Formats: sequence, C-alpha cells, structure tokens
Amino acid sequence: MATLRLGDTAPNFTAVTSEGTLNFYEYLGDSWGILFSHPADFTPVCTTELGTAAKFKDEFDKRNVKMMALSVDGAASHMEWIKDINETQHTEVNFPIIADVERKVSDLYDMIHPNADDTLTVRSVFIIDPDKKIRLMLTYPASTGRNFYELLRVIDSLQLTSKYKVATPADWKNGEKVVVSPAIPTEEAKKIFTKGVEEIKPYLRLTPDPTA
Ligand code: BEZ
Repeated sequence: MATLRLGDTAPNFTAVTSEGTLNFYEYLGDSWGILFSHPADFTPVCTTELGTAAKFKDEFDKRNVKMMALSVDGAASHMEWIKDINETQHTEVNFPIIADVERKVSDLYDMIHPNADDTLTVRSVFIIDPDKKIRLMLTYPASTGRNFYELLRVIDSLQLTSKYKVATPADWKNGEKVVVSPAIPTEEAKKIFTKGVEEIKPYLRLTPDPTA
C-alpha cells in the first residue's frame, strides 16, 4: 500500500455499506466527496459525530459534497447503531456507512494506525474533488471528535481557490477577504480583482471575496 498524499487520485473501491453495496466513484458521480472513518459502532464520540454529519447534510448538499462514513463493524451492527444515532442525536443518518469488516478500504486509505490502535480505524477525513483528486487529509485520535464546521470551511476554501487565483487566510470564513495568489504581481492583481486590492506587504495582498 502506497502512502496517499494530497493531489493523488483517491482509490476507488466497492464496499458493503448501510445503504447496500456501493462503488465509491459511482456514488460520488461528479460531486465532491468526504470519506471519513470512525473507530467503532456504539461508541459515544462516534455517535455524536455521525449525528452531527447527518445534521450538516443540507450544508454539504449546497456545496455538492457527498458523504460516506466507515467503520470496521458489519452492516447489521451499523443498522442497529443508526437507530441509536437517530434517537439520541435527534436526526436521521442520511449517508452510507461502509461496513469494512475485512479492512479493505481502511487499508487502501491507511486509516488504521497500529501504534494508536492495531485494529480500529483512527478518525481520518479525506476530501475528494470531482476529478477524484485528494484535496485534504485530516487525522484525529479516537478521543477527539471532529469539527464539522471546519470541514465545511475547508470545502468553501477549496471550492473558491479552485476557481479564483486566491488563497484563504487563517480562520477565514466564507465571505471574508481573501489573499491574492503570490504568483500574481500587484498591478496585474488590480486588473483581475476589480473590487480592489489592499497591499499590506508586496507578498501580502487582500481582496474581497470575488464571489460575494
Ligand atoms: C468514541 O467514539 O467515543 C471512542 C471510540 C474509540 C475509542 C475512544 C472513544
């Protein structure tokens, strides 16, 4: 198994999930994708994460992002656990959870980190663009639930910076000023970004969000 890196093509797979057998690429179609792993079914932090992901589905839909979760438990276990998630998190799980009993997808995406736990997956996140390139990888320990606002924020940044020659500064949120790409000289930037370019340093230029 080769280590996956940003810009690599996300490996395709066919897997049993809580919504039947799915091919990852067919499921994604032309959408962006989030693939995220959980250590195990019927665990407290995972229960809150999957409930939160379900509540964020409308926001992911707005951004044309499809979610797929994974744990190494079986599909029957997932179906029972989903009932608990729906009940305790006051939502409906509305995306597939891979039943990776044989750890095929976990191995493909290097989601088991043996020095953390030699059988369960860590909390991995892969954001995949419509060309099936990996655009973000995050790894959290089992003890820390992920921040789904941060995932939306990164998707907003990735989608904006894929379209415009900009980057997004620390703690940026959708609609806030963005950074002009360092490759563009300021005089040229002023012609491209007609809402204005603020030159703080020759290498640090801000412009309003070009989509706002
Ligand atoms: C949890 O989801 O709560 C959890 C899972 C594995 C280890 C620790 C916590």
